[in-house]
Amino acid sequence: MNIKEDFRLALRELVYPVCVVSAHNHETKVNHAITVSSVTSLSFDPPSILVCINKDSRIHSSLKKDSYFNVSFLSSSQSEISNLCGTDELSDKRFENEFWDFKNDVGFIKNSQSVISCVIKEITSYGSHSVFIGNVIEVIKNNDTKPLLYGKGDYLDI
Ligand SMILES: Cc1cc2nc3c(=O)[nH]c(=O)nc-3n(C[C@H](O)[C@H](O)[C@H](O)COP(=O)(O)O)c2cc1C
Repeated sequence: MNIKEDFRLALRELVYPVCVVSAHNHETKVNHAITVSSVTSLSFDPPSILVCINKDSRIHSSLKKDSYFNVSFLSSSQSEISNLCGTDELSDKRFENEFWDFKNDVGFIKNSQSVISCVIKEITSYGSHSVFIGNVIEVIKNNDTKPLLYGKGDYLDI
């Protein structure tokens, strides 16, 4: 039995909303973005979320305590930006398109289902990933869209 492979295959059967987490590194002046499915609401008081990010990803070192990130919950038509931010080889193309808008230097995806802006309050290292806990400081909602979902290795429509 290969527990890692069984775990991966079991997770592959589930359906997740697709998000893009984005941040700006003020030291290097570089924008970063990563496609994630690991965003979870954590608490209502204070309003907070958590996201699990691989330590090898480009964005990881830009996510520091008291720094800001945005979570764009993608709309069903936005699989292209999900692919850009979720594919290693496309990392230099992530911001060369019309998908983005910026607030206080931090990017977010225009016309996504919602954008949740956070300030990082806690970081926990566990194995290959870090868990980032962010307090919610602003929410942009777009009620006219359907979410982009990912399951069984592909994008799904509802
Ligand atoms: C649908 C989907 C969900 C993903 N979820 C996560 C996640 O929750 N955490 C994570 O670290 N990587 C996740 N990834 C993988 C990263 O997006 C991918 O490895 C990305 O290329 C890493 O960023 P980098 O290329 O800048 O290193 C996901 C990818 C896809 C397509």
